[in-house]
Amino acid sequence: MVDDDTRKAWRDRYRNGNFLAPMVRLGTLPMRLLCLEYGADLVWSPEIVDQSVADTERVVDEQTGVVRYIKNNRDMFTTHPNEKDKLIFQLGSAAPESALAAAKKVMQDVSGFDLNCGCPKQFSLQGGMGAALMTDPDRLCSILDILVKNIDLPITCKIRVFDDEEKTLALVKRVVATGISALTVHCRTKDMRPREPAMWKRLDAIVKAVPDIPVILNGDVFNYEDFDRARRETGAASAMSARGVVENASVFRSAGKLPAIEVAHAYIENCVRMANNYTNTKYSIMQMYTDTKSQVFVDMRSAKCYRDLCAALGLSELYENVGTKVLTERLDLNMNKNVRGKPATPSGKNKRAAQEARGKAPGADNVQVDQIQAKRIKT
Ligand SMILES: Cc1cc2nc3c(=O)[nH]c(=O)nc-3n(C[C@H](O)[C@H](O)[C@H](O)COP(=O)(O)O)c2cc1C
Repeated sequence: MVDDDTRKAWRDRYRNGNFLAPMVRLGTLPMRLLCLEYGADLVWSPEIVDQSVADTERVVDEQTGVVRYIKNNRDMFTTHPNEKDKLIFQLGSAAPESALAAAKKVMQDVSGFDLNCGCPKQFSLQGGMGAALMTDPDRLCSILDILVKNIDLPITCKIRVFDDEEKTLALVKRVVATGISALTVHCRTKDMRPREPAMWKRLDAIVKAVPDIPVILNGDVFNYEDFDRARRETGAASAMSARGVVENASVFRSAGKLPAIEVAHAYIENCVRMANNYTNTKYSIMQMYTDTKSQVFVDMRSAKCYRDLCAALGLSELYENVGTKVLTERLDLNMNKNVRGKPATPSGKNKRAAQEARGKAPGADNVQVDQIQAKRIKT
């Protein structure tokens, strides 16, 4: 049973903060560590569907310290002790028992859980998850309820707004009554596109409706000054940025943003040190470093492996000194088992990866990780 002082301390963790928003594919471990280095106060994991962590095996990679939750030879979630105190795990769920099982599975490695109630994508809505929960408040609250009662960590949720303000306030009050420690509001409706301005003005009424709970503003935070402005103009306790971080993760620096190339270097360094999945690394860096006319961009675009990517950024030394070691270790782990846990013969991409690890040819370091999330972002 959690006492009142602890619950108050949990709520206070969500006040006066500048946070990294959950982002499928982009908010993986290297990005979260980078944001923390630049000054983020808390970082959200990408949404991870409860059932995808259910039967995972927890493996600690001795070489890198990375904690991996693996199923069918795929990483469903990776984290590192360095982020544990600041990491909020975002769940995608439509069922209380599954949400609870997933939370229990990973709770030793995180500092809180968030329920995604805002995703408008078809795969979420079809499964009764994401924004579908906003129109099914009984289900939404039953998930929060079971988590609040059974998990000794703060529970939060992230919603959008309805067109109708009264409907939004009614939902907010119900959700807060479950005992959550904070509420994030993405100030757009389910049907609004990201290019449409976030409706910060809608926050005032929400903040006033639930005065004891920190409300986190999300939407159109692109500069360091925006975090403060969001709090000042809306009464929000904290603010959270997604696309602003993709544009430049150093948005969290009070001293101002760093040049994109410096951020790209720091990001790739984290990816190599954490042996991040190559496909995920390349996808993310191409979203982050968008100076399409630069030679660096052209070289990165044609990169086929970590060695190429590091060379494009002038980081060959990093690859030789660190990458070859940690990426090889990771390959061994992935290649010594096929999906049924039996020894596998390298073929296709795996073969290229093996060759790369031996320093012979381009390839990928780990071909299976993140495939589920990669599929999801395409939907
Ligand atoms: C690439 C990408 C992936 C996202 N993935 C998630 C997610 O996993 N969970 C979630 O609640 N929101 C997700 N979002 C929405 C963001 O968290 C955020 O609510 C939205 O982008 C508005 O914030 P912004 O204006 O700062 O970008 C994603 C957004 C982007 C751009």
